[in-house]
Amino acid sequence: SEVLLVSAPGKVILHGEHAVVHGKVALAMALNLRTFLRLQPHSNGKVCLNLPNIGVKQAWDVAGLQLQDTSFLEQGDATAPTAEQVEKLKEVAGITQDGAKPEGLAVLAFLYLYLSICRKQRALPSLDITVWSQLPTGAGLGSSAAYSVCMAAALLTVCEEIPNPQKDGVSASRWAVEDLELINKWAFQGERMIHGNPSGVDNAVSTWGRGCLRLWGPSSPRRPLALKILLTNTKVPRSTKTLVASVRSRLLKFPEIVTPLLTSINAISLECERMLGEMAVAPAPEHYLVLEELIDMNQHHLNALGVGHASLDQLCRVTMAHGLHSKLTGAGGGGCGITLLRPDLEQLEVEATKQALNDCGFDCWETSIGAPG
Ligand code: PMV
Repeated sequence: SEVLLVSAPGKVILHGEHAVVHGKVALAMALNLRTFLRLQPHSNGKVCLNLPNIGVKQAWDVAGLQLQDTSFLEQGDATAPTAEQVEKLKEVAGITQDGAKPEGLAVLAFLYLYLSICRKQRALPSLDITVWSQLPTGAGLGSSAAYSVCMAAALLTVCEEIPNPQKDGVSASRWAVEDLELINKWAFQGERMIHGNPSGVDNAVSTWGRGCLRLWGPSSPRRPLALKILLTNTKVPRSTKTLVASVRSRLLKFPEIVTPLLTSINAISLECERMLGEMAVAPAPEHYLVLEELIDMNQHHLNALGVGHASLDQLCRVTMAHGLHSKLTGAGGGGCGITLLRPDLEQLEVEATKQALNDCGFDCWETSIGAPG
């Protein structure tokens, strides 16, 4: 039987991180760094999972899994996996990895999706699955969502819940909207397995791709517009939870000061969305100047909210020395930043900027946002 290949993108937040927690609009876009999955059906009675990026290589006896009582999975996709389900799943699967580490969580999410999606089959399928990624983990770029989307798409295809778009080795078509909805629904379950209580934004962006996806407010049409960016990982570790809590306490302490910042960030997201709409129809150099101004203003606001970091200031300074504009993306306090690349830029200038960022000890990718799902 045929090898199946699927891939899914990561995400970045263009504008509106933190403000979105307080009911404001945010814009998330698919990032053209992807996760890839290769699935080989077998008849060897085993299901094998290979995750070379995080050093996982594990195999289960399909017959052994088949004998287990998996009726505890019956409640399906209506709610987040319960603590009880997680415990039983660990038992069934003989999970050896630490359930709190990325390796353990990735294995757990796989088994949850495999057993849940395939349990309607007469027999559980023998499969060899390898997943690898261009996305760093734990950097706020939605690597776990891209993993879950790939896994859901591949398993739903094998179980013929959605059509195989690669019949006879060619990508004949893309999945229909209802197929993508099913992929997204199961990917969300995988995300919940990994993150507990995620918003579902990362898997939605990874599934649907393309233009901006509003995190809040009426959903906007997705437009096929790609922006070139540099994505920089300062590699300074941060905790989204702690940073979100620090913004909340600043808001409580200085409501008169912080509320207008959040309102202003909301307006930045709306203005950016309007610009992207115009650019999708007729892009002009002036649009990029506006996008750069919006980036600068938001970066200052985020600093005022207290989620900046010396490494991010350094990113802004270094790129500004090359005439480029940057802001943090996601939670801040380190982590990742994005730099807009105007289409008129000389490649030499881009290379010099990348070199300068590498010299700071940062990882840097020349990529784009507005990628397909
Ligand atoms: O660290 P990330 O990329 O998952 O970003 C978190 C975005 C916040 O707005 C800070 C938090 C949230 O839950 O929306």
